[in-house]
Amino acid sequence: MNARLTVLGIESSCDETAAAIVQYSSDDQLPRILSSIVFSQYELHASFGGVVPEIAARAHTDLLDRSTAKALQESGMTLDDIDAVAVTAGPGLIGGVLSGVMFAKGLSLGKGIPLIGVNHLAGHALTPRLTHLTKFPYLMLLVSGGHCQFLIVRGIESYDRLGGTIDDSPGEAFDKTARLLGLAQPGGPAVEACAQGGNSNAVKLPRPLLDRPDCNMSFSGLKTAVLRERDKAVALSGGLSTHVQADLSAAFQTAVTDVLSAKTRIAMRAYMQIQPDVPVLAVSGGVAANNQIRAALETVSNEFGAEFLAPPLALCTDNAAMIAWVGLEKLQLGLVDDLSLSARPRWPLDTKSTPMLGAGKKGAKA
Ligand code: KG4
Ligand code: ZN
Repeated sequence: MNARLTVLGIESSCDETAAAIVQYSSDDQLPRILSSIVFSQYELHASFGGVVPEIAARAHTDLLDRSTAKALQESGMTLDDIDAVAVTAGPGLIGGVLSGVMFAKGLSLGKGIPLIGVNHLAGHALTPRLTHLTKFPYLMLLVSGGHCQFLIVRGIESYDRLGGTIDDSPGEAFDKTARLLGLAQPGGPAVEACAQGGNSNAVKLPRPLLDRPDCNMSFSGLKTAVLRERDKAVALSGGLSTHVQADLSAAFQTAVTDVLSAKTRIAMRAYMQIQPDVPVLAVSGGVAANNQIRAALETVSNEFGAEFLAPPLALCTDNAAMIAWVGLEKLQLGLVDDLSLSARPRWPLDTKSTPMLGAGKKGAKA
């Protein structure tokens, strides 16, 4: 086997077109991200209030070669230095996934290098191995704009989903709450900033499904409760003051934090039954950037004596370095595809569990 493997990763499953080069050397056994380029399409879709699949697919087609050229340039590599091309083959918006898969097939065929189809969720779930070489099995809370699930990550292709949201993802709830309160998008950072000056006890918001002993969650009722409290405040004072915005932001953020913490405790208990010695709790996804949520999850992790891993933000949100990394892991195991690789709009990591309801505002964004 090569002493050094270099993989190009391609990501185009929703509204980010990304390319990255990741290298792994068997000498020091360390992965290195040589470059990671992300072109966000945020502004293209902003006026539509969500991602428009056709616009996204067209933009990906325009941006795939530019992001790849930039990734090569920044890493000081040429296509001749690349050992394999890894591409998100699902789940996601089918037009975008197809654009990426076709692009990667072209590179694979043109350069005679292996093609590796990667599950986007595996990209998020295996990020702790890229950043910390974390050993299996570990517990992952994937909490993003389109997803919220607890996974026991047992291997490259082995996952147990313990539970997840039955409706909105927390990211979606943050974004909708921001809209209700007249704050900017994306809503997560805006609500977090606004919450700083607020009193989380000023209003009482629900903590859905906390009476259930499982790891499932629900966030859509929370946002409706914020709507009711906002309307009450507006009826009372004829408008939405910055004071009320801050109190509602703080109350909402604390409610999400409480639900995630309580359900993480349940997931940790299930996970600890199979991994009592060196437990690890890892988080990924945009919502993991929230300081209150991050701190609360770290506290839960400490309660169980587990190591807490939260990748840097650029690797929490959608990127192609995670796709290149899964490609590298699969390449080392000989798990490569051929030109019959197809794009999959749905592709659950744990095929044993029943599919979850609710997908989130961004279609199949993961
Ligand atoms: O992982 P991500 O970048 O994209 C998906 O794959 O979905 O997550 C985006 C989501 C958005 O809903 C955004 O509002 C939320 O993550 N987010 C946050 C924060 N930063 C981003 N939510 C709460 N607090 C934050 N600081
Ligand atoms: Zn994602």
